[in-house]
Amino acid sequence: DKGTIARLWPPYVALLSVAFFAVAAYFSQQPQDQVVVSGQSVTLPCVIVGYRGMVQWTKDGLALGGERDLPGWTRYSLMGDPLSGEHSLLIDSAELADDAVYECQATQAALRSHRAKLTVLVPPSDPVVEGGPVVRLKAHTPHNLTCRASGAKPAAEITWYRDGEVMETAIYSKSLMEDGKRETAVSMLPIVPEDSDSGRTYTCRVLNPAAPAGRQTSITINVQHPPSVTLSVQPQTVTEGAKVLFICSASANPEIIGYRWSKGGVPISEANGDSLEVTVDYSYFTDPVSCEVSNSVGSTNVSTLVDVQFGPRLLSEPKPMTVDIGMDAAFTCAWTGNPPLTLAWTKQGSSVVLSNGNTLQLKAVTQEDAGTYTCKAIVPRIGVAERDVTLTVNGPPIITAEATQHAVKHSKGKLECRVGSSPPPDKIVSEPLVWVVGRLLVFGSSRAPDHGVLSSLVLSETLAQDFQLRYNCTAWNRFGTGTALVTLKEQEALPMLIIVGGAVGGGCVLLICVITLVSLCCRHTGKGELNG
Ligand SMILES: *[C@@H]1O[C@H](CO)[C@@H](O)[C@H](O)[C@H]1NC(C)=O
Ligand SMILES: *[C@@H]1O[C@H](CO)[C@@H](O)[C@H](O)[C@H]1NC(C)=O
Ligand SMILES: *[C@@H]1O[C@H](CO)[C@@H](O)[C@H](O)[C@H]1NC(C)=O
Repeated sequence: DKGTIARLWPPYVALLSVAFFAVAAYFSQQPQDQVVVSGQSVTLPCVIVGYRGMVQWTKDGLALGGERDLPGWTRYSLMGDPLSGEHSLLIDSAELADDAVYECQATQAALRSHRAKLTVLVPPSDPVVEGGPVVRLKAHTPHNLTCRASGAKPAAEITWYRDGEVMETAIYSKSLMEDGKRETAVSMLPIVPEDSDSGRTYTCRVLNPAAPAGRQTSITINVQHPPSVTLSVQPQTVTEGAKVLFICSASANPEIIGYRWSKGGVPISEANGDSLEVTVDYSYFTDPVSCEVSNSVGSTNVSTLVDVQFGPRLLSEPKPMTVDIGMDAAFTCAWTGNPPLTLAWTKQGSSVVLSNGNTLQLKAVTQEDAGTYTCKAIVPRIGVAERDVTLTVNGPPIITAEATQHAVKHSKGKLECRVGSSPPPDKIVSEPLVWVVGRLLVFGSSRAPDHGVLSSLVLSETLAQDFQLRYNCTAWNRFGTGTALVTLKEQEALPMLIIVGGAVGGGCVLLICVITLVSLCCRHTGKGELNG
């Protein structure tokens, strides 16, 4: 063969070579596509038979140079015996930069090898879990545990383990790095940590063909939660004036920063521990005492009432009412007490219980319904309290008078009638049924003790004919009239019993006093009954 010829007869080599080039230079070995893990060495074979000229490698089309030691490419060299046509490219400790297309060229023979793709595999860096090595999480709050494996070629696969058990729910994504070759892979494992998950280990394991054994990073989670608080009261049930101890017990991760107390929303600034002693009154029954415990994650506020026993306290006072006859009326009174109280509505002068509720309903009231009502609250064994309220019924005047009244003959005589009227009467008239000509009648009225009106008919000096007559006391208001008839009887030697201090009342009651003189016709004919 030509090698033997060359060795045997060097002077002929050049000549022979030229002759071979022209006809027979060819690749007996060519570089093929190869895959190498970074850091390893790789040889791209190139053996050209029948060629003694310059051999050069190109990398992505760029010539590496003619010399065998390839100055400028420290990790590259040509190996093999050039005389045997060996020009293999040795790449020492491959790097990502070596990832390229290589070609072996016999320039003078215009021969080009196969274009060989060298793929350099890069293992991923150690995975990084965000927040590791101890990831602080808030209880019951969704979180994605994020593991990142960068610099891998091809992108790393990522698997999550929880306490050694594979988790299947992770979401994987990858992206090309700036060099356009390596990739960063990210896996997010959605979790909703519970308090009990605190201390669990999560492992993120990454691998690719360059690191088939994989690499892994473990983290533990520390599940944090706002304080869990219970607030208790000792003793449970007390009477007013007793001492009570509130105990606020809490557990938290991370540790408790502080306690704040309030009552009915008003801070108790001097209290800042986990217990509070107070002397209670009835207000602790309705205003909750709250204990707020904080840590760096949040705060929890728990409230409690105290079972304080106390007698009735009025919450809403019943309002006096004035209604027209026939209408409905209602009174409301509200009490509080502990233990629960019983309520009873009664009307003054009667022991009949009208209602046991807060509200007393009176349907279609009559004038008899007017009066004072009492709302009475009873807290068993603790106390009793009551409130009065009046109902005024607007209706026709109600006239009351002694049917027979007395006077001494030839002295001053007086007839009285009492006008109970709501609304106040527009007019009150007192008149004898029989008018006595020439007699002086003085009419006056005053306020009666029961808020009614006392109306008097005064005869300056009684005569015989004034007795045995019937006198008519009538009052009007917008609802109608009320009338009472009185007979004056002669009283021998007895003094007048009814004494009334009686000028016209002080103007509280609008009273139009009218003395209606009976018509002349009646005066003349008048022995019968009179009509107004
Ligand atoms: C977790 O990741 C998923 C997918 O990207 C996203 O839809 C979700 O909102 C993330 N959850 C949290 C708590 O960040
Ligand atoms: C706790 O809650 C109660 C009721 O919601 C509130 O009135 C009180 O102010 C709160 N306490 C604190 C310390 O915030
Ligand atoms: C009393 O007087 C009023 C008004 O004058 C009259 O309407 C009424 O009928 C009288 N009543 C009697 C019983 O006389």
